[in-house]
Amino acid sequence: MSQDSDHPDDQGPAALGRVLVASNRGPVSFSQDEGGSLSARRGGGGLVSGLSAMAGSADLLWICAALSDDDRAAAQQAPDGRLDAAGHDTPAAVQMLDIAPDVYDQAYNGVANSTLWFIHHLLYDTPNQPRFGSEFARQWESYRSYNRAFAAALARGAEDRDGARVMVQDYHLALAPGMLAGLRPGIRIAHFSHTPWAPPDYYRMLPDDVGRELLEGMLGADHAGFHAQRWADAFLDCCADILGAEVDRAARQVSYRGHRCDVGVHALGVDAADLRQRAAQPDVERHVAALTEAANGCRLIVRIDRTELSKNIVRGLAAYRELLSAHPELHGRVVHLAFAYRSRQDLPQYREYTESVQRIARQIRDEFGTPGWDPLTLEVRDDYARSLAAYRLADVAVVNPIRDGMNLVAKEVPILSERGCALVLSREAGACAELGRHALVVNPYDVAATAHAMYEGLMMPQPERARRCAALAQAGGALPPQQWLADQLAALG
Ligand code: G6P
Repeated sequence: MSQDSDHPDDQGPAALGRVLVASNRGPVSFSQDEGGSLSARRGGGGLVSGLSAMAGSADLLWICAALSDDDRAAAQQAPDGRLDAAGHDTPAAVQMLDIAPDVYDQAYNGVANSTLWFIHHLLYDTPNQPRFGSEFARQWESYRSYNRAFAAALARGAEDRDGARVMVQDYHLALAPGMLAGLRPGIRIAHFSHTPWAPPDYYRMLPDDVGRELLEGMLGADHAGFHAQRWADAFLDCCADILGAEVDRAARQVSYRGHRCDVGVHALGVDAADLRQRAAQPDVERHVAALTEAANGCRLIVRIDRTELSKNIVRGLAAYRELLSAHPELHGRVVHLAFAYRSRQDLPQYREYTESVQRIARQIRDEFGTPGWDPLTLEVRDDYARSLAAYRLADVAVVNPIRDGMNLVAKEVPILSERGCALVLSREAGACAELGRHALVVNPYDVAATAHAMYEGLMMPQPERARRCAALAQAGGALPPQQWLADQLAALG
């Protein structure tokens, strides 16, 4: 829990001092209209809402990468590369780093998303992948220089600011803490992993020097945070087994080359009041009306994911097919809303996965659909208001990732559900640690068990569903982003 003295509400402006945040994707993105002028679009997510709550009490700077040519143009136009918060509707001043496109591509697509994401989510088809050859060596060089660019910008951002605290986000930036500590000895650094962490036997697939360098980079931080105990423990195991670092498991501390890194578990939750307010807006109401009409009285099984391989959408749809095969009495009485929004489409594996999702969805509709009943609605175009409408209407929510750092959908749906939804939840999601007691917990590889859990969710008596849903909502809102962030800052001292 946070120390009272570090809670933003308790203090006056700038009481928290200089806080620097670093992440690959920032809180704003730019696009050029036909007339050539750039317009900003604010992003969402826990970090944005957490920092918004802190904006009055800290001197904030958020350093991120320019992700597109339009972002680069905006960064080049900004005085000393910094966009002010008020002018761009962001919770912090933003500095977008204009990293050379090929370096960025190799670091983001080559190392972060095709390698580290696969390692931490256990996604490799190991008879064939990974293969670390000379192409990977080039990508790794780019990953280093991408991290160096962040470390240098953070060092500049902390200049002349005694007591500056730095919060580095995720696997894109595993080397930055060590690099920054080298540039600015004594600066307080936290790193947070939003993903799981791989167990040593799997992590060891990385080339030995790369595996070590990543851990050493992370250990440059004073605090390494994870969403769940399992991921924190796996990190400690890697530090002990691979680096031979001194690990105190009870205290969750790693000592390495004279520096100590504390490891913390901070299970990000949802700002329930804020989410409910957003879900009551007219655009969501319109979608509620449209989805209700389309459902035509059927019960709704809902899943909403980005189309990432780790989300296990194909097995989830296969489970729905098994449900329909095993229970003909449900035909015409249930509809599956599967919203699978496109993600990372520069990578061939992601494009192929999206196609697999579309293929099995077609098969289900062809096999079971009738003129009066469409058993499945698959949407691949992101629409936040429609997602919230589906949350409100869900009878059963399915969250069945192969592995997931947290999974906020599992927390959001029960908060918004108006029908007291049942939650089918993978035991491999970080969220399972908090929600498992009230969910229908499944092994994500077990399609038959997932189908059975969907059935149980549909058949659960209403009072039990309502009771479980209320408990899920309570747990999901337990650590809202502002508190989550304040706790990490407090842990930095
Ligand atoms: C997911 C993960 C985060 C990660 C993000 C990056 O949300 O949970 O750990 O930072 O993906 O997504 P992007 O679209 O920027 O590659």
